[in-house]
Amino acid sequence: MTPSTSTFGLRLNETAKLIEANLQALLADNARDGEIARPVRLMAAMRHAVLGGGKRLRPFLAIEAARLFGFEGPGALRTGSAVELLHCYSLVHDDLPSMDDDDLRRGRPTVHKAFDEATAILVGDALQTLAFEVLADPETAADAAVRSELVLGLARASGVGGMVGGQMLDLSAEGRYGAVAMGEAEVRQLQMMKTGAILTYSVEAGAILAKADEKARRSLVEYGRALGAAFQVADDILDREASAEALGKRTGKDQEKGKATLVDLLGMDGAKRECRQLVDRADAALAGFGDEAQTLRDAVRFVVEREV
Ligand code: IPE
Ligand code: IPE
Ligand code: MG
Ligand code: MG
Ligand code: MG
Repeated sequence: MTPSTSTFGLRLNETAKLIEANLQALLADNARDGEIARPVRLMAAMRHAVLGGGKRLRPFLAIEAARLFGFEGPGALRTGSAVELLHCYSLVHDDLPSMDDDDLRRGRPTVHKAFDEATAILVGDALQTLAFEVLADPETAADAAVRSELVLGLARASGVGGMVGGQMLDLSAEGRYGAVAMGEAEVRQLQMMKTGAILTYSVEAGAILAKADEKARRSLVEYGRALGAAFQVADDILDREASAEALGKRTGKDQEKGKATLVDLLGMDGAKRECRQLVDRADAALAGFGDEAQTLRDAVRFVVEREV
């Protein structure tokens, strides 16, 4: 590891601790203002889904993107937590028997294994609405226009034209609804939707919070797209090359399920080349920023070099 990536590792861990504490508070048993009651079983299952694991990369990106414009504080932490809640919902549903049918996540049994399938569906539903509630709360941003942009952005990134739509394409690509031929362009689009959209949003959310100007925001979105694309290629590489013990989730399952991946289409060397090109694209997008963007430069390297 280069010194900058180890500094990066420490920084990522520190942010993860702050996020963990924030998520813990959001997932407490007591009903909050405006709620009627919080069912104990649902809360326990939500905490199982969210707490005690995960790299917390999406919150980190939101917080670091905001910091690039000098914006720090509880609003950035809460925005990061909201994205993480949404991400955890996507993982719980992704692991369901009717989806990827996985029994291990973050080194522990998946929610439908530790609880049951109906509870896992409700956990996803509740995490999703909680994510939007956190963004819409004035505690996240005093300015209503900022809150509205945060909500709009997350809705678009996670909905039919983003993550959920990408998950639909991912399942279709398995051939379960009839044979489909997917070329590189289709797979890239599928991945931009299922994974890239929320990672891109994470970065853009920092710019929204900090009220960055349009040009800077566009550069960050371009950086986020490159990072998001690299993230899923790296995930697909890890599915082939890493162990379940190291990753905390079952590996070798993409081939088993007939998932469409760039590893399939480009080969392992081609997929790794793609990662390197995406790092260059992310760097190019940050060219207009100075040393203060070094953490974001390190982040895209972390994404392609990670072992978890
Ligand atoms: C895994 O995401 C799911 C994908 C989008 C490929 P992460 O690798 O960020 O999972 P955690 O949050 O660290 O567990
Ligand atoms: C998951 O992609 C993407 C979302 C959860 C939206 P994968 O199915 O490849 O993620 P893992 O490998 O199970 O973490
Ligand atoms: Mg999946
Ligand atoms: Mg999966
Ligand atoms: Mg995967």
